[in-house]
Amino acid sequence: MIVLGIETSCDETATALVGDDRRIIVERVLSQIAEHRPFGGVVPEIAARSHLDHLDRLIAETMAEAGIGFSDLAGVAATGGPGLIGGVIVGVMTAKAIAAVHRLPFLAINHLEGHALTARLTDDVAFPYLLLLVSGGHCQLLVVEGVGRYRRLGTTLDDAAGEAFDKTAKLLDLGYPGGPAIEAWAARGDGRRFELPRPMQGRPGLDFSFSGLKTAVRHLVEMLPKLDDQSRADIAAAFQARVAESLADRTLRALRRCREESVPLTALVVAGGVAANGALRRALGAVAAEAGLPLVAPPPRLCTDNAAMIAWAGIERLRLGLRDGFDFAPRPRWPLDPAAALAGEKRLR
Ligand code: KG4
Ligand code: ZN
Repeated sequence: MIVLGIETSCDETATALVGDDRRIIVERVLSQIAEHRPFGGVVPEIAARSHLDHLDRLIAETMAEAGIGFSDLAGVAATGGPGLIGGVIVGVMTAKAIAAVHRLPFLAINHLEGHALTARLTDDVAFPYLLLLVSGGHCQLLVVEGVGRYRRLGTTLDDAAGEAFDKTAKLLDLGYPGGPAIEAWAARGDGRRFELPRPMQGRPGLDFSFSGLKTAVRHLVEMLPKLDDQSRADIAAAFQARVAESLADRTLRALRRCREESVPLTALVVAGGVAANGALRRALGAVAAEAGLPLVAPPPRLCTDNAAMIAWAGIERLRLGLRDGFDFAPRPRWPLDPAAALAGEKRLR
């Protein structure tokens, strides 16, 4: 069983063919970073046009490289949300068209479900597991109980982890995207030179917050007589350390909560673009060891946005006999745990 996956929810146009034997047959990722860089962030209109310009060609190349035709597919899966709606529409319409013409099942995949299930593609992890999902738009702790069954334990009260990296990189003038830039600069810095606050340190609950840390970086930058390269590296190192500590602290609490509730976790899984960060991986390794669980961290190229995770989520759903109708409408918002999202919105109001 081979599924074609399509990902267009942000600034990567991606396609992949994945088999139900967990084999990634072909994978293509076209980054739009260069197109968005002059603006310091993703411009939705540019993203949508760029997906439209490249997606058909990418799909043709992907099929040609695998040497198969559309009739050899078991289904076509596209990100149906959440994300920038223009891009999501491009991917969903393309997938529907291929599915309709070749009479294939169409699957609208929740992008977050793609990240959440990647560990089962790379490492065959059994349910249930604790997932720390850290990307540019999301920062959540979820118990992954099964396909389509997610229980949210905590989320961010303000910025997502990746957003915090991106905004801090902007403050330090390190370029875009911020996460990889901060990690590279931090490697040359001394994280002990500047004191930055530890977000949510010792606070009860499982939620995250990064805006205080970001503000502290801004004040620090304003107070420095000159922002030279060594200061940039030192601030980047301190910032990255505080973020990793905060994510690890909340994750450890979540693992303890699961133990109190006798959830039979098989692993701690980290996913999303920020999961590519080495300092975070090390901090989470220690947390997992303390809880006596393996840490499953997919390779960085499968942590950031890609289409293999979308194809894989499609396979997981097809196996359960699930598919979507052609009346599926792309969704700019699409929480994995709608009950928790609703409760959170009420709490914040
Ligand atoms: O999952 P992703 O590719 O896209 C979203 O769905 O958001 O995540 C992108 C985010 C960006 O904020 C980027 O700065 C961050 O992941 N990121 C990193 C690293 N690589 C990417 N953050 C920290 N360290 C990295 N090495
Ligand atoms: Zn993502």
